[in-house]
Amino acid sequence: MSDTEIAIVLGTRPEIIKLAPVIRACESQDVQYTVIHTGQHYSEELDAVFFEQLELPEPDYNLGVGSNSHGVQTAEMLVGIEEILQDEEPETVLVQGDTNSVLAGAIATSKLDMELGHVEAGLRSFDRDMPEEINRVVTDHAADYLFAPTVDSADLIREEGIPEDRIYVTGNTVVDAVEQHREFAQEKSAILDELELVPSEFVLVTAHRAENVDDEDRFEEILDGIARVADRFDVDAVYPIHPRAENRLDEFDISVPDSIRLVEPQDYLDFLNLESNARLILTDSGGVQEEACILGVPCVTMRDNTERPETIDVGANTLAGAETDEIVDSAIEMDGAVCDWTNPFGDGEAGEQIITEVEQSETPKELEMTPQ
Ligand code: UD1
Ligand code: UDP
Repeated sequence: MSDTEIAIVLGTRPEIIKLAPVIRACESQDVQYTVIHTGQHYSEELDAVFFEQLELPEPDYNLGVGSNSHGVQTAEMLVGIEEILQDEEPETVLVQGDTNSVLAGAIATSKLDMELGHVEAGLRSFDRDMPEEINRVVTDHAADYLFAPTVDSADLIREEGIPEDRIYVTGNTVVDAVEQHREFAQEKSAILDELELVPSEFVLVTAHRAENVDDEDRFEEILDGIARVADRFDVDAVYPIHPRAENRLDEFDISVPDSIRLVEPQDYLDFLNLESNARLILTDSGGVQEEACILGVPCVTMRDNTERPETIDVGANTLAGAETDEIVDSAIEMDGAVCDWTNPFGDGEAGEQIITEVEQSETPKELEMTPQ
C-alpha cells in the first residue's frame, strides 16, 4: 500500500496552470500527492516552461502519449493512467477541465476503487460537436466530487441530476493562479519592451480551437476580422500562436495580414503581462476569457457559444462568432466598455478549498460503506 492520498492527472497548458494552485495546496496542507502527466502537450513552450516558471515539481510520471487522433490518444492515456493508479493506489484522483487527458483520467479512475474529483465542473457550451463538451459531461457524471467554479455552473449539474452531496462551489483555480502571479508578472516580465509594445496600444489575440482553425474559410474570416480591428484601432494585433493553428496556417497556405504579429506561445508571466496591458483581447480560449475578466480587460470571444457565460453577464465579454464583420462590430462595442465589473470566479482560494474538501468530506461512496 502506498502513501499517496491524491493523484493529479494533467496533460495540457491550461491544466498545468490551473492545477498549480491545487498542487501548492497539497504542499501547504501536507497531503501526499503524485502528478501524472499524460504528455498530451510536450513542446517546451506548452509544457516544461510552465513547470519551471510556476516552480512546480517535475511530474512523477510522464506517459509521453503526444499527438494523435482522439481515439488513439485517449486510449493510450487510459492504459497508462490505469497502470499507475493501480500501483499508487491513491484515495482520490483529481482532473481539471475538459481535455482528452481529463476524459482518460476520469474513465480510468471510475473503473477502480478510488474517488474522482473534477476541478472546474459544471461548464456547458451545449455544443456537442466540441470534443471538450463531451469530455466535460462524461467527467462530471463519473465524478464523486464536482468542484464547480460558480453557483450557475453548480445549478447546471444539479439540473442534470447530479446529487447535491457531490457538488462543491469553490470558485475557479484560475483566480488563484492570476492572483499568485500577476504582481510578479508586472515586475519581472520584459515582454512589452521585447515586442516594442506600448500599454493599451495593442490588441492581444489567441485562436487555437479546432472548430476555428481546422476550417480554412472560418480561420481566414477570423484573421480578416482581427486585421480589420487592428487597422480600425490603428494598433498591432499580437498573436502568440498555438502549434495547432500554426500547422493549419502552413497546411492551408494562408498569408497572414500585416497588422497581425505572429509570435511564439508565451510563458505564463509574459502572457499575463500582455493580457493586463492589452487594449482589448480577442480569443477563442476558455482560460483567456476568464483571465481577461479577472484582469479587467474587455474581451471578444470568436466563437458561437461559451461555457463561461458569467463573463458576458458581468459585461466583460461578448460572443462574436467567426465572421469578419461581427468580429469588428464586437470589438468596437467592447472597446467602449466600462471595465468595473466584479470577477465572478471566486476569491482565489479555490485550490486550498478543493484539497480541504477532499481531505475532510465523506463522499457518497464512503457513506454507503458505513454500517447503519
Ligand atoms: C487541447 C485540448 C483543448 C485545449 C488545448 C489547450 C482536447 C480535445 N483539446 O487542444 O481543449 O483548449 O489543448 O491548449 O483535448 N502540438 C504540438 N505540440 C504540443 C502539443 C500539440 O505541436 O506540445 C500540435 C500537434 O500538431 C497536434 C496539435 O498541436 O496535433 C493539437 O494538439 P492536441 O493536444 O491534440 O490538441 P490541442 O489543439 O492542443
Ligand atoms: N497562455 C499562456 N501563453 C500563451 C497563451 C496562453 O501562458 O501564449 C495561458 C493563458 O494565460 C491561460 C491558458 O494558457 O491560462 C489558456 O490555455 P489555452 O488557451 O491553450 O486553452 P483553453 O483555456 O482554451 O483550454
